[in-house]
Amino acid sequence: MNQLDTPLYDRLVQFAKQEPISFHVPGHKHGMLFEEETFFQTAALLDQTELTGLDDLHAPEGVIAEAQELAASFFGAKHTRFLVAGSTVGNIAMILGSIKRNQIVLVQRNCHKSILNGLELAGAKPVFLAPAYNEVKGRYTHPTQKTIQKAIQRYPEAKALILTYPDYFGTVFDLKETVEMAHASRIPVLVDEAHGVHLKAAKTLPLSALEAGADVVVQSAHKMAPALTMSSYLHLNSEYISISSIDRYLRMLQSSSPSYLLLASLDTARKYLATRTERDMEKLRTAVDALRKLLSASDLWDVEKQDGDWLKIVLRVHAGYQPRQLANMLESSGIYPELVTDRHILLVHGLEALSEDDLNLVRTAISDMEAPACIPPVQAAHLFSEPVQELAVSYAEMEEQQPVLTKWDEAIGCIAAESIIPYPPGIPVLAKGEIVTKQHVEMIQLWKNSSISFQNEHIEQGMLTYRGTNEGELF
Ligand SMILES: Cc1ncc(COP(=O)(O)O)c(C=O)c1O
Repeated sequence: MNQLDTPLYDRLVQFAKQEPISFHVPGHKHGMLFEEETFFQTAALLDQTELTGLDDLHAPEGVIAEAQELAASFFGAKHTRFLVAGSTVGNIAMILGSIKRNQIVLVQRNCHKSILNGLELAGAKPVFLAPAYNEVKGRYTHPTQKTIQKAIQRYPEAKALILTYPDYFGTVFDLKETVEMAHASRIPVLVDEAHGVHLKAAKTLPLSALEAGADVVVQSAHKMAPALTMSSYLHLNSEYISISSIDRYLRMLQSSSPSYLLLASLDTARKYLATRTERDMEKLRTAVDALRKLLSASDLWDVEKQDGDWLKIVLRVHAGYQPRQLANMLESSGIYPELVTDRHILLVHGLEALSEDDLNLVRTAISDMEAPACIPPVQAAHLFSEPVQELAVSYAEMEEQQPVLTKWDEAIGCIAAESIIPYPPGIPVLAKGEIVTKQHVEMIQLWKNSSISFQNEHIEQGMLTYRGTNEGELF
């Protein structure tokens, strides 16, 4: 297969050049109905529908099938599916296609909300694996091998192990060893690799999840590769899970009018990744190292030593400064970080080096930054008491109960009727069905005070809980 080919993108361009008359949707009629000065017009030329020769995502046999096969060949999968609703839909379809009602699933607890939503929709019985707290990094990373081993021994009947790899900050672990451990117990491994679509592009980047032997892998092409937002891939390479069971859910969950713009950007993003040479990537790494050095000149933070994905630059803000305030200063100089937590600012470097002008802008912004007023240092959070923990009540039991809005101080001891989700990163600090602890409430208050946003309607007043308060009392 020739990785220089982009069959879907090429066919769309060829079609647009014919200037066809549209007696079909979409209503913008090849962009002609947009006002002249909008940016939409050029893009709209490729924003097509399932016309003759343009194939159909839900029953591909032409250019979409070819583009998916090229992607499968590059990433090293038996099957690849193009997704137009992000890794969110990929994670949900991966779970629904692999797990049946009431089946036990081992799940890394600090996962994206889409994993938890998928588990709830499937009616699965999650067993959460607590991540270890890394004192040096100042955050939770991933469950240890010991925790995973313990969970497999305790739940040999588990139908899947679901992991996030790499994490938002580019941290990885020995996934190959973990997969071998799970496979030895005939447990398939499903990986949310939303942040790792580019790992195949260089030997100096961590091993990709497919290379590590994972069964199903979901990647946000739009996060680290040049693809349009919401474009993602789902790959399958498994003797345990069939692609048809996942396809069934993708057909249910994805739009019946998937965006050809997104699909074509998945085709071109794969070509982009496939054509990076080791030399390109080495030059990029040198540029990233230089930027890291430049950022290290500030005495407001330390630049974290990166032991995983070197495109992630983590600024560990010195105790006493509020990261959000520092990020605001960067933003006022036109520099926008990806994520701000109570301790870190995360910068995501692209797959090309910055221009000299942009580097100079960063240099000036850093040297102009003045130390803001000090705030009390943030205490380390310890949220997980048990390394391996089931939900306090099942999703089915929760269905029978009425959630009530509960003030924060009264919520302690109750069962959470909603996940509490700081965003970004979208990893629930408290998952629906868990018992609310004092540590959760303290952490949520601390994050609120650090200007971290939450995707919860009632966050100022409290949260939805199942009343009855104490553990087990209600159910
Ligand atoms: C770990 C992880 N998984 C899944 C997702 C969802 O990805 P998408 O935005 O492509 O739907 C995100 C989004 O930030 C994420 O961080």
